[in-house]
Amino acid sequence: MTVGIQPSKLIDGKAVANTLTTQIAADVAALRSATGKVPGLAVILVGEDPASAVYVAYKHRQTLAVGMASFEHKLPADTNQDDLLSIVNELNQDPSVHGILVQLPLPSQIDPNMVLNAIDPTKDVDGFHVQNAGRLATGQEGFVPCTPRGCLLLLKHRLGDLAGLHAIIVGRSNIVGKPMAQLLLAENCTVTVAHSRTRELPALCRMADILVAAVGRAEMIRGDWIKPGAVVVDIGVNRVTQGGKPRLVGDVAFAEAAHVQAITPVPGGVGPMTIACLLANTLSAFRHTLAARNN
Ligand code: GUN
Repeated sequence: MTVGIQPSKLIDGKAVANTLTTQIAADVAALRSATGKVPGLAVILVGEDPASAVYVAYKHRQTLAVGMASFEHKLPADTNQDDLLSIVNELNQDPSVHGILVQLPLPSQIDPNMVLNAIDPTKDVDGFHVQNAGRLATGQEGFVPCTPRGCLLLLKHRLGDLAGLHAIIVGRSNIVGKPMAQLLLAENCTVTVAHSRTRELPALCRMADILVAAVGRAEMIRGDWIKPGAVVVDIGVNRVTQGGKPRLVGDVAFAEAAHVQAITPVPGGVGPMTIACLLANTLSAFRHTLAARNN
């Protein structure tokens, strides 16, 4: 529910994502007519983490919905690292697979960096391979992680030029916080990355023109941490029970944020953009293979 927030302040990620996926579906159909081929996305899920299973099922449905091929690999929780690496290697060699995603988190017996860095960087549609992370950090073209890319699209959709704005990101993960900082720097924002050891976090957050919450703690960022007129992007997806009912809430206490200029709701904000950007990255990977074949 969107208690107390004017509808015009909501950043409708679902609508922006729909526009993006409609275009992707049209491009896939045109490329299919022209080449007889479609982009293929392989997703590997290890174990039974319920949230990951929901995300992977959603990715599968959306991939098929835009006309791409979807390959799901579901492996038991006790899968060993070598077996997972062999599957990644097979997918690296498979010409019908243009994008590979290994769902995180992985079980503790597996080193995620070993696996992510085994993915062919030209198929690394998550943008987590060290080569793509390095490309982003140095301003070179490469795959950009889907959630921060989706957040940036929403911010630009709402604000246009971001130059000179002070963006504060709460959270420093490789998946969201760090790539988000690189993307906002490239847009000429002044960027601060805060985290669990940051001092005076509420006072710091109050300085943000753009506040990106990526901490994974339900409603941790209170209304009085937000400067009036700030734009808030809430990446948190936290399952809580309220009044005996299960609910999804973000990292921001949404009902306390009526004084924002704009805010992404949870659900319906960042989430749909992540999958749309994953499909956009897969389409780019496919186009690159077509271009390479023609050279
Ligand atoms: N787990 C949470 N977010 C992501 C993501 O964007 N990609 C992958 N592979 N795993 C995740």
